Amino acid sequence: MTQPKILLTRPWPQGAQSWLQARFDVTVHPGPGLDAAALSEALLAYDALGTAVNDKLSKDVFATPHPRAKLIANFGVGYEHIDVTAAKAAGLIVTNTPDVLTEATADIALMLMLMASRRAGEGERQVRAGHWKGWGAKALMGQSLQGKTLGLVGFGRIAQATARKAQRALDMRIAYYSRRRAAPEIEAETGARFVSSLDDLLAQSDVVSLHVPGGADTHHLIDAVRLTRMKTSAILINTARGPVVDEAALAQALLDRRIWAAGLDVYEHEPVVHPDLLGLDNAVLLPHLGSATVETREAMGMRAAENIALFFAGQPPRDAL
Ligand code: DGY
Repeated sequence: MTQPKILLTRPWPQGAQSWLQARFDVTVHPGPGLDAAALSEALLAYDALGTAVNDKLSKDVFATPHPRAKLIANFGVGYEHIDVTAAKAAGLIVTNTPDVLTEATADIALMLMLMASRRAGEGERQVRAGHWKGWGAKALMGQSLQGKTLGLVGFGRIAQATARKAQRALDMRIAYYSRRRAAPEIEAETGARFVSSLDDLLAQSDVVSLHVPGGADTHHLIDAVRLTRMKTSAILINTARGPVVDEAALAQALLDRRIWAAGLDVYEHEPVVHPDLLGLDNAVLLPHLGSATVETREAMGMRAAENIALFFAGQPPRDAL
């Protein structure tokens, strides 16, 4: 029997890729992803595609009738880069990889909070450039996080993990804003207090951490006006999706010291970063590292691979959207 043909739009971690290669006819594109024309062609030539965040699968990609592909297994939890409605209309199932990257991404949120509050990037740059003048009683003074309020925007899995870690490891108070209030047991377990208005959360928080999905509903949720709602001593953390923040407005707010600092792992136009951010010492800039551990990336690959295997075994994939 001929094996289903799978296209991975970039190499996957070895364990997950080998697992797939042992079961299917797998083609691995060298990466870093495919453009719209190549994705459209791939839908006609393969039975399933293994995509990731930088493959933009807009409505147009699904316009060619009768695609051969029946499954898009996304390597990642976020899926705003895929027009899932158009995919379904074209007869495809789309899956993602929830749960397995929750802890790793929450770790990066904490790391950014610590780096931004303790001016770690700025200090490291001084050392490397040979500009460090030695210990000083007033040198590179940051802010303590202990007892401060962490305001979470969105309260899904990653936000909840961030709440637990920040409360236990950093002794922070936790508040959150979400369209839907969490169950009382989740609030009790994470120690998080619900705030019913985003503007109120922004006004109350010493650190604001974003945990909403990308897409039209959250585009520029944090814009120039919302940035003025934050304390001038506040820190903004984004490990969610770049377009949630108006990057130009953020750069201006950091330059004007309208807010104190920002820690970013995601950007509006990755891999391009707004040039004004690059020169700012109060911006910590990481290259979309959220899920980047060996363990997590293998787990993401295996979760996507299992979705593919279930589908071709005639069973519903675990993570169908
Ligand atoms: C995710 O899983 O969505 C990460 O941002 C990587 O794509």
